[in-house]
Amino acid sequence: MDIKKEVSSIKDYIIELRRHFHKNPEPSWKEFETSEFIKRELKKLKIPFEKIAKTGIIAKIGKGNRKIALRADIDALEIEELNDKEYKSEKKGLMHACGHDGHIAMLLGAGKILKKYESELKGEVRLIFQPAEELGDGAKEIIKDGGLEGVDNIFGIHLWSGLETGKISIIPGEIMASADLFSIKIKGKGGHGSMPHQGVDAAVIGASVVLNLQTIVSREISPLEPTVVSVGKIVSGTRYNIIAHEALIEGTVRSFNDEIRQTIPERIKRISENIAKAHRAEAELEYIWGPPPLKNDTESAERAKKCAKSLFGGDSINNPIGKIMAAEDFAYYLKEVSGIFVFVGSGNKEKGTDFPHHHPKFDIDEDALFVGASLHIKYALDFLNKN
Ligand code: NI
Repeated sequence: MDIKKEVSSIKDYIIELRRHFHKNPEPSWKEFETSEFIKRELKKLKIPFEKIAKTGIIAKIGKGNRKIALRADIDALEIEELNDKEYKSEKKGLMHACGHDGHIAMLLGAGKILKKYESELKGEVRLIFQPAEELGDGAKEIIKDGGLEGVDNIFGIHLWSGLETGKISIIPGEIMASADLFSIKIKGKGGHGSMPHQGVDAAVIGASVVLNLQTIVSREISPLEPTVVSVGKIVSGTRYNIIAHEALIEGTVRSFNDEIRQTIPERIKRISENIAKAHRAEAELEYIWGPPPLKNDTESAERAKKCAKSLFGGDSINNPIGKIMAAEDFAYYLKEVSGIFVFVGSGNKEKGTDFPHHHPKFDIDEDALFVGASLHIKYALDFLNKN
């Protein structure tokens, strides 16, 4: 099969799909119309499918013992789009600002071609349309519902505006961090601002906790282990002359090292509880575990590199974006089966598609869809043809 020729022949189809999804963004776990649209498309393509994980879909092409999964996430974000394009979001306050619209389109495009050559496939290609990536828990639900059963290897793509169109970043090992959420409630005692000695000021204690949390990374963790403890939200008090009786602190923890990550809740708890105690207050920690660090399999990375090289030449892959502290729930799949998550460049200055992900002016260079769809097909074929 001449993959590039096949994908070129359906380029308009893929772009049309992407624009449809871009115009109709839906937030995590509410991808109802998106899911229905994908099902209608799969029906047209005569690809059998099943509903999974509420708004998710699993579609299967080919049969056999060997099984490769290709994944696209389908949710959008609560952002008001500031682009003025003909395919601009038609839903107020919602936008595909991470490129997941492109991910769905690339996977449907790849599915269309793979279906055409179904009789030649030496195994099963499973298409996973996954909800709720932005919440970091869609992948977990797909696994829980058996979506990965029997799968030997998984391949995923993220379009990336920080990488030029035509370039592909494929890195073995840990490339994305874990992402957990914590929330600390400081319980003090309210009172009149003019008589602070009668209260227990939760605002002052909260401020002290925020400052001291900084010592986890700077004083307790080896400088050779990239770790982040960031406080993003502090809420305390109701009025300028009232002693705050409560303070709420929320933050995120990131790490590439799962062992270090496991020690962080205890550190946050020790610091916040003891500071609160020192000031006659109480602290309560809630720690919510998110996706683990994303670890790419070395052999799969080699396979993906070979695929990229044969399709687009060696220059296309010599542009790693490096590790990033952002997270991806694709990491859950890689805990279950071997596989690889790659970044496909969609940044193009002239086309104005180099805004960062989650920016209200984020957009993708649609030429990148051709690269991604081709790569999906090539990786699946190479994996199934092994041995
Ligand atoms: Ni994303």
